[in-house]
Amino acid sequence: MELTGKTALVTGAAGGIGRAIALGLLDAGADVIACDRDAAALQSLVDQNADQYPGKINPMVVDLGDAEALTKAAEAIAGGAADGTAGGVDILVNNAGILSPHKLAATTLEEFHRIMAVNLDAALILTKAFVPGMKAKGWGRLINIASYAWKSGGLTAGTSYAISKAALVGLTYASARELTATGVTANAIAPAYVVTPMIMEQLSEEDRNRQLAAIPVGRFCQPEEIAHSVRFLASPLAGFMTGTVIDMNGGLQFG
Ligand SMILES: NC(=O)c1ccc[n+]([C@@H]2O[C@H](COP(=O)([O-])OP(=O)(O)OC[C@H]3O[C@@H](n4cnc5c(N)ncnc54)[C@H](O)[C@@H]3O)[C@@H](O)[C@H]2O)c1
Repeated sequence: MELTGKTALVTGAAGGIGRAIALGLLDAGADVIACDRDAAALQSLVDQNADQYPGKINPMVVDLGDAEALTKAAEAIAGGAADGTAGGVDILVNNAGILSPHKLAATTLEEFHRIMAVNLDAALILTKAFVPGMKAKGWGRLINIASYAWKSGGLTAGTSYAISKAALVGLTYASARELTATGVTANAIAPAYVVTPMIMEQLSEEDRNRQLAAIPVGRFCQPEEIAHSVRFLASPLAGFMTGTVIDMNGGLQFG
């Protein structure tokens, strides 16, 4: 298995895409730190998979919007890894995200900051915490789950969300440029309309049907398809790929 001996941290691991990513990385042999604020959902992820992956899933309950708590928790995990010996995180998947449909006129500064804190600040905090350990080991993977909204400006997604995802792509490019010679790669995935609670519960039926009709491949994306791309980016054979955004939008960009 290509990721045996590696530790991955996946944020939003209790959600639709995060759960699939965590299971995909476990299947590839990695140990997974499953991070979310939903303690009960994390526990059920651990319980449901304890037989198949005994001791391989460690829950990390934290509010990603709380910068101070997150920094402390991340530093505790990063521990002594800066000397390249042990511990730390080899694969960081910044997946957690929150959505608002509010366009410009309905966007408040309060909402903007709340969304940026989870979708961007948390990714920056975790990247800063784990990159020193990755550099010391000469190997690391930064994988950021952006969204088609980063370049579409947001179809059903709102202004703050679209800005946060464009900024996450900016973090991806900046990290990739800075880390090229270190063995650490940084890439993003930009999905559109994946079948998760974010889409099934937060979009009206009318919006969902309209978007489905607009997707040229004729269906929504499955979380496992995103997990497959994450597994690919995390694999040793993807080491020549850095500073890229993998589009997964079913051809929406040609619509
Ligand atoms: N579903 C889609 O169609 C779609 C499309 C493009 C991009 N994305 C992106 O994919 C990522 C995952 O989305 P999803 O569809 O699985 O969403 P989801 O709502 O199913 O899962 C998000 C998870 O993040 C966790 N979370 C939210 N705020 C948190 C916080 N403050 N602290 C800790 N955990 C927090 C939630 O508890 C949840 O488990 C997001 O970044 C989203 O923007 C999703």
